[in-house]
Amino acid sequence: MITNRTFTMLKPDSLEKGNTGAILHKINASGFKIVAMKQTLMSMRDAETFYAIHSERPFFADLVQYMTRGPIIAAILEKDNAVEDFRALIGATNPAEAAEGTIRNLFADSISENAVHGSDSDENAQIEGTFHFSGREIF
Ligand code: CMP
Repeated sequence: MITNRTFTMLKPDSLEKGNTGAILHKINASGFKIVAMKQTLMSMRDAETFYAIHSERPFFADLVQYMTRGPIIAAILEKDNAVEDFRALIGATNPAEAAEGTIRNLFADSISENAVHGSDSDENAQIEGTFHFSGREIF
């Protein structure tokens, strides 16, 4: 397994608010190389599959609605210690608790609409990256 990669999505609120350029700039400026990237619209089935781990949570239906209401930008990022460093860069799930200067502190409005996703483990980075990208889309 490649352990220097992580997976991210810029969520619909980031695209709606025109924040994608600023967020991608911050990602690059923090030392992450983009090895795959695309703008795409998740279907209900895509979102239900991607977030299956949350299927019993009370916010699941709202989460699926949010993630399918408009396009997202999916990307695979490369850097030493990618998973941990990217989670530090994006900040806590709840933007009210996200450290100053983190992406969620700067660009997210609420715990449900929190601007970006970051994989929580090397294993999930691999699973989530291959959910969105085929081998010939990754460089
Ligand atoms: P993320 O951590 O990327 O993946 C799961 C998502 O579910 C999370 O971002 C939020 O968008 C959403 N989420 C997590 N916790 C809550 C919550 N308590 N209430 C509403 N949405 C949540």
